[in-house]
Formats: sequence, structure tokens, C-alpha cells
Amino acid sequence: MMISGKFESLLKTADSICVLTGAGISAESGVATFRGTDGLWSKLKPEELANFDAFLRNPDIVWEWYNHRKQIIQEVKPNAAHYALAAMEQMVKDFTLTTQNIDNLHTRAGSKRVLELHGNIERSYCVTCGKFVPDVVVTREQRIPHCGDCGGVIRPDVVWFGEMLPQDVLEESMSAAARCSLFLSIGTSAVVYPAAGLPLKARDCGAYVVEINLERTEISHLVDESLIGKAGEILPQLAEIMKTSRSQK
Ligand code: OAD
Repeated sequence: MMISGKFESLLKTADSICVLTGAGISAESGVATFRGTDGLWSKLKPEELANFDAFLRNPDIVWEWYNHRKQIIQEVKPNAAHYALAAMEQMVKDFTLTTQNIDNLHTRAGSKRVLELHGNIERSYCVTCGKFVPDVVVTREQRIPHCGDCGGVIRPDVVWFGEMLPQDVLEESMSAAARCSLFLSIGTSAVVYPAAGLPLKARDCGAYVVEINLERTEISHLVDESLIGKAGEILPQLAEIMKTSRSQK
């Protein structure tokens, strides 16, 4: 792995670091990405599953799909990239991890503070009264879960197409991006906004922006450095570099 002297020095000294992750960071755990040849959206039409109207029309089909993904996610394990980010959090005073992933793998790897821009598949809530419902179980007999309090339909707590992102999470991520000196954009195609705006915000505010991806992306020409390779191989090496000059928080 070749990195610039500037990047190495920031890894060793930066007090404020931000990270944005996308589906690519979980690919080595066995969770399919959205785009690319094997991506989910090349086989399924997102507009048929990932929006509220589709859910109201066919809640059973949407639940079957999320139940299926939930099972896959529960069976896989965090990989070296998730663990490396959890280790980095322990070494940096002001460390912000924002993820577009709903798979909960950062938390399972030990990251303490994870800003989830697109929700979390482990959580659900009632569309009528808003109550959060943990441990939703969907079975062949009960294909659509209902709220124990008001009887409303329960939905997964994930952001669908056309829906607002959680504004507090977005604001916290944006302000962290604006104040950091190093920003890492990892395993994201950087085509979905506002998430893809975070590295650009950081760059505009003076941060050094490094992208880690298997291939070049929409924002490659705008970042300071692109590391081409697997997140699970590159991130542990970056965490090692950090360790040489830092102690635990
Ligand atoms: P994408 O599927 O668009 O992009 C995944 C990226 O990860 C691609 O650029 C791959 O090249 C890269 N990649 C794959 N394996 C990798 C590896 N081992 N190491 C490093 N990079 C790797 O996923 P996202 O950018 O996360 O939104 O997609 C953004 C949003 O689009 C998702 O959060 C989802 C989707 O619609 C919602 O559901 C709201």
C-alpha cells in the first residue's frame, strides 16, 4: 500500500477525523452491495421495494425482502475493516463515523458512536403512532407485523427512496465533516446524496480527503488521494500506522 507523506502524517497526528462508509465495507463480510455487477439493484428494482408506497401496497413482500436481508446480516460477521475503524475511534479525540449501511456491523465490531444516515435493519417502528419496536418477527403465518399499542403497521427503520434522512444525524455528520482535518470515504460509490456530499463538504472546509475503494468513483477526481483496493486489507494497515504514534483515548 502506497500512501502520501501528508496522509501518513495526518493519520499520526490529526485530532479530528471523519469517516463515511458504504456497502463496500461490508462486501468482504458477505453482504451484497447495491451497485456493480453483483449489486442488489442490478437484480431488483429499488422502486418496487424501497419506497413507502410500495410498502403500503405490498407490506408482506417488502417485509419478506427485509426479513431475508436481516437473516443474511445476522449470519455474517464484521470484517477487518469494521474492526480497524473501531480501533481508530479509540485513538482519536474527535472521531466521527457516519455510515450509509443499515447492517449494524460497525456496532457489532465495537464502534461506540455510529451515525446511521439510512437507518438500521435491526430496528422497526409503527407507521401510525411512531413507537419503536425491537425484535420484530415475521413468519409465514404473520407476514405483516402490527403495533401492540395502536394496531398500526410496523415498518423497518430504514430510509427509503424519496424519504427524508434523519435530520439530526445528517446535521451532526455535516458539522463533523466541516471541522475535521482528515476525511476517509470508504466503500461507497458516492452517487447517493446527501451522503456523498460529506466528503465534498470536508474538502471545501479544508480537510484532506482520502477515498478507499476497489475502483474509481464519481468523486475520485475531487479527492486528494484514492487508494484502490479492499477495505479489509487497507484499513488495518492505516490503523497500524496510527497506532505507532498514538495512545488510547
Ligand atoms: P454501492 O453499492 O453504490 O457502492 C459500493 C461501493 O463499494 C462500490 O463503489 C464498490 O466499488 C465498492 N466496494 C466493493 N467491495 C469493496 C471492498 N471490499 N473494499 C472497498 N470498496 C469496495 O453502495 P453505497 O455507496 O453504500 O441507500 O450506496 C449508497 C446507498 O444507495 C445505500 O445506502 C442505499 C442505496 O440505495 C438506501 O437504501 C437509502
